[in-house]
Amino acid sequence: MDDRTNTIAGWVLAGGIVALGLTIVTGEYFHAERPEKMGYTIEGVEEEASGGTAAPEKPIEFYLAAADPAKGADVFKKCAACHDVGETAKNKVGPVLNGLGGRKTGTVAGYNYSDANKNSGIVWGEESFLDYIKDPKAKIPGTKMVFPGIKNEGEAKNLWAFLSQFGTDGKKK
Ligand code: HEC
Repeated sequence: MDDRTNTIAGWVLAGGIVALGLTIVTGEYFHAERPEKMGYTIEGVEEEASGGTAAPEKPIEFYLAAADPAKGADVFKKCAACHDVGETAKNKVGPVLNGLGGRKTGTVAGYNYSDANKNSGIVWGEESFLDYIKDPKAKIPGTKMVFPGIKNEGEAKNLWAFLSQFGTDGKKK
């Protein structure tokens, strides 16, 4: 190694030391402390427990129960080709769906039901409705309602929230 190479190596080494020193010093200056209160929430990053004063999370039912009749009105468009609701509702391909909550299957006057539907013995309520509407043919084998079903439970719940508003007279309760 000649002198020149040594000099270069020396400077490189010195540069490295200075850089390391700077890193340590700036590290001290810009030391990233986790803030006591998060300015904004990042998905997936847990906020640190603040001495057990945090409000308990709401039970899951709270979120599940938030069915929206307005969204249900939109879902009802899938039924409206065959079903009517409201004060001026008439039987179409399918029976009027007024007063559905608490209504027995096959009981709308002037509508010609299939035996399968009439004899199913179901009383319509949220539970039986949700069960039926996800797959009508599975719940009532032999029904003449030709509809594949609504698989999305949120949509089905919104639909029930919409339909269950209508009383027997078609007025919203
Ligand atoms: C293609 C036409 C058609 C579509 C679309 C349709 N239905 Fe029906 N629905 C019928 C027919 C026909 C019946 C009568 C079934 C029978 O008698 O077997 C019926 C029966 C029913 C019943 C039972 C009524 C009773 O009095 O027992 C309910 C509840 C119902 N449909 C809800 C719905 C909902 C909610 C939708 C939309 C998601 C829907 N239907 C979509 C044709 C349809």
